[in-house]
Amino acid sequence: MPLDLPSVIGHRGAADSAPENTLAGFRRAAELGARWVEFDLRLTGDGQPVLFHDDGLRRITGASGRVADKSLEEIRDLDAGAWFSPAFAGEAIPTLAEALTLLATLGLGINIEIKPDQGREDETARIGLGEAQRLWPDHLPVPLISSFSHAALHAAQAVVPHWPRGLLASRLPRDWPDLVADYGCSSINLDHRHLTPEVVDKLRLAGLDVLAYTVNDPRRAVTLWNWGVLSVFSDCPDRLLKARQ
Ligand code: G3P
Ligand code: MG
Repeated sequence: MPLDLPSVIGHRGAADSAPENTLAGFRRAAELGARWVEFDLRLTGDGQPVLFHDDGLRRITGASGRVADKSLEEIRDLDAGAWFSPAFAGEAIPTLAEALTLLATLGLGINIEIKPDQGREDETARIGLGEAQRLWPDHLPVPLISSFSHAALHAAQAVVPHWPRGLLASRLPRDWPDLVADYGCSSINLDHRHLTPEVVDKLRLAGLDVLAYTVNDPRRAVTLWNWGVLSVFSDCPDRLLKARQ
């Protein structure tokens, strides 16, 4: 199925109303009307792909150390929901397989953001995307793969060449035309705070889709859409979808 990006993509699920990068967050995103969600992918110490944004475990689980220092078994003992609200206590850090199974059942489109540890860029993309390729059903839109890591994009190109890639950056890099050509990107995903109408025009003229993160103010979203931004990542997809109507 061709890529048909919506105007709003749930950021880390629906991070405003459910704990980020959890199964509960994806269910919530679907309830709020999101058609697509973004999530962050990294590897445990024993090379298992899981959904987690930070390098360190502290903010989300209260535990010390890094995801990369723990085995999947140790990671699975941690609570990724209680920090957000007692209502979500017991929510686990999902494996990629669990997340993809649920997301496919919900019929959501996905943006897999590869968040590799330094030195594990290739490994993270190969293991994560290899698994995603095995599990993601053909009847759903192909996933969009993005990363701040150029090495991860390079590996994604080799593993799933037919899945579209987005160059992720805070500000538009000076050498964006080379990067986009080198990694075969069809979109550039930028921090909305650094976007201008001129930048959006330039990128669209080059044939690229422009995506913007993280946009929670409906008025700002309308401005960005009017500039030609295709999709915005939002923690509160429902509020932005209302503004879009
Ligand atoms: O992919 C968009 C956005 O998620 C990138 O930043 O730090 O929220 O993963 P971050
Ligand atoms: Mg992300």
